Amino acid sequence: MRVLVTGGAGYIGSVVVEELVAAGAERVVVLDDLSKGHADAVVPEARLVVGDVGDSEAVAALGREERLDACIHMAAASLVGESVQKPGRYYRENVVKGLGLLDGLLEAGIRRFVLSSTAAVYGEPAATPITEEFATRPTNTYGETKLAFERALRWFEGAHELRHACLRYFNAAGASQRNGERHDPETHLIPNVLAAARGEREVTVFGEDYPTPDGTCIRDYIHVEDLARAHVQALQSLERGSGAYNLGCGGGFSVRQVIEVAREVTGRPIPFQRGPRRGGDPAVLVASSEKARRELGWTPRKQDLRTIVADAWAWLQRRG
Ligand code: UFG
Repeated sequence: MRVLVTGGAGYIGSVVVEELVAAGAERVVVLDDLSKGHADAVVPEARLVVGDVGDSEAVAALGREERLDACIHMAAASLVGESVQKPGRYYRENVVKGLGLLDGLLEAGIRRFVLSSTAAVYGEPAATPITEEFATRPTNTYGETKLAFERALRWFEGAHELRHACLRYFNAAGASQRNGERHDPETHLIPNVLAAARGEREVTVFGEDYPTPDGTCIRDYIHVEDLARAHVQALQSLERGSGAYNLGCGGGFSVRQVIEVAREVTGRPIPFQRGPRRGGDPAVLVASSEKARRELGWTPRKQDLRTIVADAWAWLQRRG
């Protein structure tokens, strides 16, 4: 298969590119504007094109030139807190540019599409674990814009036979040998906790008054390599039809438990301070990924939080 990966120079995208190459994809082309991604994150077997994913003409030309037959769309703005402050930017990045991309793909005859979506489409869930049948009631603009684009895809399927899979990620974490998290600014829990273990900063725990056993938020952490493999399997399963899939490991860990695991893995103290809740954070987000297991044949291989944190730590330490 000849695949376009938008956002393929980013944290998750770069590992998806690694997995595609490892799975023997005939051609992998990355389209990324490098606003957040890093050119050196793209393995040499793939071609990196620096450009705007919303530029339909450029996408159509690239699709024809490279004879591409599928797209994994990962380029997006993805910070929950920022999305609440800047809704216009999130609609432009995640909906408007996405539509430009679709126009270009269809123009080039590309009708297989995998979307990087999010657990944030569910908002505050009524129960746990979350299945794909749960109501979608986003509590932030990030989730709302991803849901808007998921919905657009259904209409594009009706009109243009665009086969698609929407992968609703829970909390991606960990690292491959080559790629790990390097956001600027870093807002995610595990890299922040590991930076504290390295003495670079103190972690703030956002809220200790949630209705959870230790009062801190519970999340379902999934190894970035497991997440990346699901994209390859989703592409291979598109013939069966379109759908949405939750991707998590089905286990929940609180912020305090993550700090504890990081202490064990690193053998270092992790100083933290208590802070107020962060806007838009649901108390508990844990996935049921039964559908992905059943329909995509996907199984996580690195479910243990210790392994996830250890891989992130090893990557950071290698980088010096
Ligand atoms: N947290 C802290 N301190 C920090 C960073 C995070 O206490 O320094 C807490 C957060 O409040 C949250 C948990 O740790 O309770 C996890 O936070 P992350 O920022 O690591 O991840 P989120 O759950 O907020 O977000 C992730 C993805 C989003 C996606 C969301 C689904 O990054 O893209 O899961 O809800 F939308």
